[in-house]
Amino acid sequence: MQREIEQIVNEGNAAIGAATSTEALAQVDTELFGKRSALSAAHRSLGSLDPDARKEAGRLLHEARALLEGQLAARRVTLAQSERAALLVSDRLDLTEVIPAQMASPLSRGHLHLVSQARDELEDVFVGMGFEVAEGPEAESDWYNFEALNMPPAHPARGMYDTMYLDIGEPETVLLRTHTSPVQIHLMEDAARHGTLPIHAVMPGKCFRLDTPDARHLPVFNQIEGLVVDRGITFGDLAGTIQTFTTAYFGEGMQSRLRPAYFPFTEPSAEYEITCAICRGAGCRTCSNIGWVELGGCGMVDPAVFAAVGIDSDEWSGFAFGFGIDRLALMRHEIPDLRSFMENDIRFLSQF
Ligand code: PHE
Repeated sequence: MQREIEQIVNEGNAAIGAATSTEALAQVDTELFGKRSALSAAHRSLGSLDPDARKEAGRLLHEARALLEGQLAARRVTLAQSERAALLVSDRLDLTEVIPAQMASPLSRGHLHLVSQARDELEDVFVGMGFEVAEGPEAESDWYNFEALNMPPAHPARGMYDTMYLDIGEPETVLLRTHTSPVQIHLMEDAARHGTLPIHAVMPGKCFRLDTPDARHLPVFNQIEGLVVDRGITFGDLAGTIQTFTTAYFGEGMQSRLRPAYFPFTEPSAEYEITCAICRGAGCRTCSNIGWVELGGCGMVDPAVFAAVGIDSDEWSGFAFGFGIDRLALMRHEIPDLRSFMENDIRFLSQF
């Protein structure tokens, strides 16, 4: 019996040592201690021994079982530890990983919106021509947006501007500017007050009108205003400036024209138009079949405006213009519909 028990222990130890996973060890556990195990069989055979031998064999069997159980438990701990370590390695996420630039999607990088790029380029063109860049507020009083621009209350020209009023103060006294022309007034008032004439400035910024969006209109759009106030400025200076600007922004060969128009704050006034870049003048949806697209207005500063800001129109004269930045970008890049600028479709935006 003693030899038999030694053999059970040796074989058990070998089996425990040979198990390389907790799963295999569970199998060994059943083989060693289950009903069909050698240990159980030995137990059952105790009954056939005489009492003294049975007592001795019983003690040996008990020791053998305790020994094997201890070995098994120790082996289980070791195997579980290494299995957990292996799991941690395989589950590990390398959060320090850097995606090389050439593998990163260009779509995920982002860049300035086309309209912002256009504004920057326009500023560059005018700065190259000797203009300074100025800005003004988007919320204005009636005085700056209308009255100082020779549009007193109830002036019919106010009808050109579907105005968004702000609920501040008396009704219809504070508004979102409908054009960038009020910035002219700020600059002229400052220059008159501080004696810093002449002025050669462009003023880019957002404008707001209650317009229904279509191919050429958005309720929020951008203009770049221009103002020159100096001695002896003529309409020829205005026409030459616009011609130089057209070539600088669109390149050679873009056809532009000035058409007589009316603005209360300039006299004479003109509309600045270019041949529609979508249809090359043949007529299409973008230009409403006219073949020309109006990019803005311009003219010689009206003496009434000089009077409103306190500039002597006998000594000074000037010209002003206001061009739609969004429309300029539309024509320059041959985009048929202004609404593409507002849809934020990455497939469109990423092309520019
Ligand atoms: N402010 C005018 C508009 O938006 C355009 C303009 C600017 C006309 C300057 C003349 C001089 O309608």
